[in-house]
Amino acid sequence: MQVKKAIIPAAGLGTRFLPATKAMPKEMLPIVDKPTIQYIVEEAIASGIEDIIIVTGKGKRSIEDHFDHAFELEATLREKGKQDMLDSVLQTSKVEIHYIRQKQPLGLGHAIWSARKFIGDEPFAVLLGDDIVENDEPCLAQLMNQYDQTGNSVIGVQQVAPKDTNRYGIIDPISVEDKLIGVNRFVEKPAVGTAPSNYAIMGRYILTPEIFGFLGEHQYGAGGEIQLTDAIQKLNEVQPVYAYEFEGRRFDVGEKYGFIETTIEFALKRPELRNQLLELFEKKLKESYSNK
Ligand code: UTP
Repeated sequence: MQVKKAIIPAAGLGTRFLPATKAMPKEMLPIVDKPTIQYIVEEAIASGIEDIIIVTGKGKRSIEDHFDHAFELEATLREKGKQDMLDSVLQTSKVEIHYIRQKQPLGLGHAIWSARKFIGDEPFAVLLGDDIVENDEPCLAQLMNQYDQTGNSVIGVQQVAPKDTNRYGIIDPISVEDKLIGVNRFVEKPAVGTAPSNYAIMGRYILTPEIFGFLGEHQYGAGGEIQLTDAIQKLNEVQPVYAYEFEGRRFDVGEKYGFIETTIEFALKRPELRNQLLELFEKKLKESYSNK
C-alpha cells in the first residue's frame, strides 16, 4: 500500500518563541517571507502526498487562513497588476488541506492520535515543522522509497553531536545497511552520556497504522507528555521499525539560534538581499575585530 496521507502536527505551545507565540502560531513565523509550515506542506506535496491533515489547537486559526483564499487581497493585487505577489498568494490556496483540533496539548503522540480517523487503516507520513530539510530529492520522498522497499515504518534520522543527544529521540541501532538502520530501541531525549548512539530522530516519519493502538494507551512519558517515540518503541517490539539516515541539509527552526541561522542562510540565497547582507556582515566583523 502506498503512502498518500500526511499529518502535520501544529498544536504545540511554541514556548521557545514566547512572547511571539502568545497569540500567533510558531508555525506561522516566517523564514524571510514564507511561514515555516509552508516549507513543510511544499515538501509533502513534492514527495507525492495527496492528502494533508494539520493538527491545530487554540490560537492556530491563522494557519487555516494562510492556506485558504483571501478574496479581497487577491482582487486588490489583481487590480494593481501585482502579478508576482498574486501568484505567491494563490499558490498557498491551491493546496487541499484538512484540519483537526487537538483539544489539549498533551504531547506529539496525542496530536498524531487525534488524526487517526482521517488516516484509517493505511501507512502515513508525519512531518514536524521544527525541521526544514533542503535536498533535491525531498527528505520525505526518501523515506517513502524506503517504505516501498521494506513495507515497514521508517523514521528519518541524522547524526548529531554527542552533547546534543538530550534534545532528540535517539535510536539504538542494531545493523546499518547503506543508510537503512535496524533499530533495537528508541529512546526519547536521553541524558548526555547515556545515549545509545548519536542518530537523532528528525521530524520525518512513515508509520504503519498499528501505531494508533499504542498511542491510544495514552501513556505519559518524558516531560509529562504523550510521546510519539514511546509508541514507536512499542511498535518496534511487534513489527520492525527502521531508521533511515536521509540526505540533505537540515535546518532546526524550532529553537531561536537555528531559526536565525536559517533565516540568514535563506536570505543569502535571495539576489535582492544577498549583497546588502554581506555588506552588513563585513561591517559587523570589522567592528567586532576593532573592539578586541
Ligand atoms: P515541540 O515540543 O517542538 O513543539 O513539539 P512546541 O510544543 O510547539 O514547542 P516548544 O517546545 O514549546 O517551544 C514537536 C511538534 O509537535 C507538535 C508541535 O506543534 C510541533 O510541531 N505538538 C506538540 C502538538 O501538535 N501537540 C502537542 O501537544 C505537542
